[in-house]
Amino acid sequence: MSLKSVYHKVLPSWLRGKVGLGLLVESMMLRREREIVTRLACHAPFSVGNLPDRYTLTLGSAGSCYDELLGFVQSFDSGYTPALAQVLTPELHSTPQSELLNVLFERNGSDKSTTHDYHLLYGLALAMPAKISDILEIGIGSNNPKVISNMGEEGTPGASLYAWRDYFQAARIFGADVDRDILFSADRIQTFFVDQLDPSALAALAKELPGSLDLIIDDGLHSVRANLATLQMALSLCRPNGWIFVEDIYEPQEAFFGLLAWILRQEGIQSKLYKFTKQGMIFAVSPGRQLSDFPA
Ligand SMILES: C[S@@+](CC[C@H](N)C(=O)[O-])C[C@H]1O[C@@H](n2cnc3c(N)ncnc32)[C@H](O)[C@@H]1O
Repeated sequence: MSLKSVYHKVLPSWLRGKVGLGLLVESMMLRREREIVTRLACHAPFSVGNLPDRYTLTLGSAGSCYDELLGFVQSFDSGYTPALAQVLTPELHSTPQSELLNVLFERNGSDKSTTHDYHLLYGLALAMPAKISDILEIGIGSNNPKVISNMGEEGTPGASLYAWRDYFQAARIFGADVDRDILFSADRIQTFFVDQLDPSALAALAKELPGSLDLIIDDGLHSVRANLATLQMALSLCRPNGWIFVEDIYEPQEAFFGLLAWILRQEGIQSKLYKFTKQGMIFAVSPGRQLSDFPA
């Protein structure tokens, strides 16, 4: 929409010509700044001052708060180095299982082994598929371009669920997604609605599932707020030797996951962030394993 048409839409006709375009733009910017300062109230200075300065300070606090909190934790827990540096490469970490997963993801249309190298971690952590009986993946793969985090119009909904079904030949595979149009059921696959941003929808999903699961994957919205709500639900369902994997983490979120690892450690739960040669990181959590049992 052009500025001119905004001008005509926003201003009543009797005001047009009396209020200049510049003034209109300025008032729209101030309105936006005020909205952001209000929405990010936790980061806004609780003091007087002009709006543009308060806005800049608010954004600065929101942008750096996880890095600063992590630095704070490290300043008194000097032994704490969040396990952030584990890199898995095809040269050092390929196994027959990861090669099989590579083929299955690609054949079924999932990007887990094309855009990403996630099959390397999964091949190591899930090396004994016969021992796994119940799996949940959040994020089925919408091909609706209007849905956030969609797979693109050419995407195949259910791609990774079919790949998991091929790999875990006796397991029940559960999927969940916010896009109701792509829900389906097939042999050993059942899918449900969930909105990861809504804890009551996550709780309703948990009621549809077996009481405990071996493997839970978060490949949904990929926002830390959604990750946190999903992790809380996943921890209530995950078997002690099971795995929770949060996919598609990127660099600006590293400090958040470093802090999360520290909080989990206070509860005796170990976790690790995996990096790859290709883009995207995975935060791995296992409620009952020691860090030495995590793939390295
Ligand atoms: C990248 S796709 C999943 C791809 C699939 N796991 C695969 O590898 O084949 C991400 C999915 O997350 C879903 N999603 C987006 N926001 C969500 C939310 N708030 N709750 C649950 N799912 C969501 C989208 O509808 C989309 O289907």
